[in-house]
Amino acid sequence: MKVGIIVYSQSGNTLLVAQRLKKAFEEKGHTVSLEKVEASGEGANPKLIFAPDVSPYDLIVFASPVHAFSLAPAMKLYLSQLQDLKGKIVYSFVTQQLKKDWMGGNHAIKQMKSACREKGAEVIMDSIVHWSSNEREGQIEALTNKLSAGK
Ligand SMILES: Cc1cc2nc3c(=O)[nH]c(=O)nc-3n(C[C@H](O)[C@H](O)[C@H](O)COP(=O)(O)O)c2cc1C
Repeated sequence: MKVGIIVYSQSGNTLLVAQRLKKAFEEKGHTVSLEKVEASGEGANPKLIFAPDVSPYDLIVFASPVHAFSLAPAMKLYLSQLQDLKGKIVYSFVTQQLKKDWMGGNHAIKQMKSACREKGAEVIMDSIVHWSSNEREGQIEALTNKLSAGK
């Protein structure tokens, strides 16, 4: 299966998890591309500098940090300008600083799901990594195992 991991990352946390996930998919024999959404302006009104094309992929993983209890605006913008996700298998994950899902992660995943649904695909797997948690390493391990196995 051709896998595309599409990541937006400002300070590298989400990118690091995406790199670990890429390795996990590759170990299972998949061909994986990791592509970065590039945006200018880090505030609420970013502009896209690079918007990866998702059309080559069978399975797409969208990955983003949580910003202000929501999906990072750059990822929100990126998802809104996608052509079409019909027929794609879609997963997503977010990273957040705080320890509880309700401190942004749940809302960000919900936003990710509704943005993908508007483009014709359901997000069928998702995960949240809490960066300040003592359990962070275990969360990353669980995420990479779960998403690369599809269960
Ligand atoms: C503008 C901004 C807002 C943030 N808001 C939240 C938040 O609401 N909840 C949270 O848990 N972490 C929040 N964070 C922390 C990031 O989600 C966290 O550090 C994430 O892992 C960063 O990912 P990155 O290194 O891929 O950019 C915020 C960070 C920034 C820069």
